[in-house]
Amino acid sequence: AQDVSTPQWRPTYHFTPPQNWTNDPNGLIFLNGKYNLYFQNNPFENKWGHMSWGHATSTDLVHWDNLPVAIPEIVTKDTTTYIYSGSAVLDKNNTSGLGKDGKGPLVAIFTADKPKQHNESQYIAYSNDGGLSYTQYAGNPVIDLDKKDFRDPNVFWYEPTKQWIMTVAMVDEHMVRIYGSKNLKQWTRLSDFGPAGYTKSGWECPSMVPLVVNGDKSKVKWVLFVSAFTDRGPGMQYFVGDFDGTNFKSDNSATETLPVDGGDAFYAAIPWRLANHKATLMGWLVPGKPDTYPWRGQMSIPRDLSLRATSEGLRLIQQPAITIKDKLNTLSADGVFAMESTDLRDKEVPLPKAGKTNAYWIDAEFAMADVKVAGFKIAQNKDLPGNDIIIGYDAIKQQLFIDCTNAEKNNKQPANHIQAVHMRPMKLLNGLVKIQLLVDRNSVEVFGNDGEKVITTEIYPDAKSTGVSVFGNYVNVSLKLWRMDK
Ligand code: FRU
Repeated sequence: AQDVSTPQWRPTYHFTPPQNWTNDPNGLIFLNGKYNLYFQNNPFENKWGHMSWGHATSTDLVHWDNLPVAIPEIVTKDTTTYIYSGSAVLDKNNTSGLGKDGKGPLVAIFTADKPKQHNESQYIAYSNDGGLSYTQYAGNPVIDLDKKDFRDPNVFWYEPTKQWIMTVAMVDEHMVRIYGSKNLKQWTRLSDFGPAGYTKSGWECPSMVPLVVNGDKSKVKWVLFVSAFTDRGPGMQYFVGDFDGTNFKSDNSATETLPVDGGDAFYAAIPWRLANHKATLMGWLVPGKPDTYPWRGQMSIPRDLSLRATSEGLRLIQQPAITIKDKLNTLSADGVFAMESTDLRDKEVPLPKAGKTNAYWIDAEFAMADVKVAGFKIAQNKDLPGNDIIIGYDAIKQQLFIDCTNAEKNNKQPANHIQAVHMRPMKLLNGLVKIQLLVDRNSVEVFGNDGEKVITTEIYPDAKSTGVSVFGNYVNVSLKLWRMDK
């Protein structure tokens, strides 16, 4: 009964391995026009275990070439070593000396988890075939503090001090430890950040990136991301601040926690670092219930990052990657469907062009006059009326939201949300609200006001339930819809 295939939930434009389990994205690196994605993978089963690095590459972040496992678990007579989360860098100048024929290698930096020894240490492995296969460095571990929970190294090159910088999680201490290295082999402890912000559960998967503020290339601030499970489910927080090559100093006030995503699925995200302080973040969407088959776990839509100055301080802006947005017309199954300033006074208008498979992308703008609520309804169970998931903007509460209450009450296949309603505070902009709605069978991602707020969750519509409608009272809507099940 376990292994029933669930094609109705298989994403069409989000990454998931053809089969078996995935969790965190690992080693995100853009090389020769290709986005490399490694990922936590059980190559043998559809559940967590045998942790290895799976591998796929893409030029457009939608179509993926699936490649062989790049770093398998290490099994010896005495022990098993899992390949936990980490990062990958191009060691252009061969600082590590692990290159070949005068060319610098790719180096993966990750946590070696030894369940029997209750030990987590940091390992490196190198590739001289463009990232297809890796050789474990003979001098591993490169950092071992004799700790059980010490993981997820994320490494980048820092030009001002000409060294590699690593952020790694001191999980139970709620700290990020920062190390520096000239050669990826010998690491020097530079500083600790934390505890700060949300500290009720273990910190995982830290990463740090410089981002441009308000599109002004001369203004750069750093953002530090941390993942931690919260009482709402999987979550991530971020700190805005400065990095001087040694310390990260946060500008966040002592009492505030800034969530990256207001939903209950987005976790363990790390960036692709691109030229000119650009970065694209990809996260794991933690699977809920029921199980999907023959795969379990998928990635989020990749999100381009920037910072915007607001009255509350600098805030993270996330937009679906421009690489995808730019190509929507060609990625779509039947081009774009457009609706121009349509009056939605107490109306619910079905959008038949969404197609039959729950895979679509909507960019909408609502002009809210005296409106209370406007947004979208998506069906979850055809045989039970009134079980829609409602996604939209509440002008009274000034919130962007995804409301799964009815769906969970009526649906025979609940998603196991801890809370049925997910919301983030958001203001109207001159009476307007912008909503981007990305539905891909098993997931919903909502971007409000050009990425000022994001909410992600997972849904489990039955095979017969498809379609989306737009609703509102005293609203004018303009929207574009692309079917994404090509
Ligand atoms: C986060 C995480 C990481 C760890 C990996 C193991 O989801 O727990 O901290 O490296 O998953 O699969």
